[in-house]
Amino acid sequence: MKKILIINGPNLNLLGKREPGIYGRKSFEEYLPELRAKFPDSTIDYYQTNHEGSIIDKLQEADGKYDGVVLNPAAYTHTSIAIADCIRAIDIPVVEVHISDISKREKFRQISYVSPVAVHLIKGLGLAGYEKAVSYLINR
Ligand code: DQA
Repeated sequence: MKKILIINGPNLNLLGKREPGIYGRKSFEEYLPELRAKFPDSTIDYYQTNHEGSIIDKLQEADGKYDGVVLNPAAYTHTSIAIADCIRAIDIPVVEVHISDISKREKFRQISYVSPVAVHLIKGLGLAGYEKAVSYLINR
């Protein structure tokens, strides 16, 4: 029985409504039961926040309590040394996920402070990227 925590950063509470051409028409709340059904032997907890410090608090709390974290830091990916430092400081693995392919978008999205400290990066697969990330952590 593995325990996985998904953390979604700013504006991902607006999935389904936000730029559907890029992020799709499904909210994370709609997707989450489908995801959980694919991993009946695991516990998948979910947390979303629009605040950088709350992502850090949650990562610190998760350390030692979860087998791994699936993190979509959203726009903080491209700015947050604090989140990267936190991932460096904790012992549990963090997989970085992006719904869109950040390497094919604007220049500022092509920089990730999180990638060097994440155990794995999944991008451009839409919401299916979260399933890949959970699978990666479970089979690790
Ligand atoms: C995102 C990509 C980021 O550049 C953007 O700021 C987001 C979402 C993604 O999942 O594709 O909010 O992380």
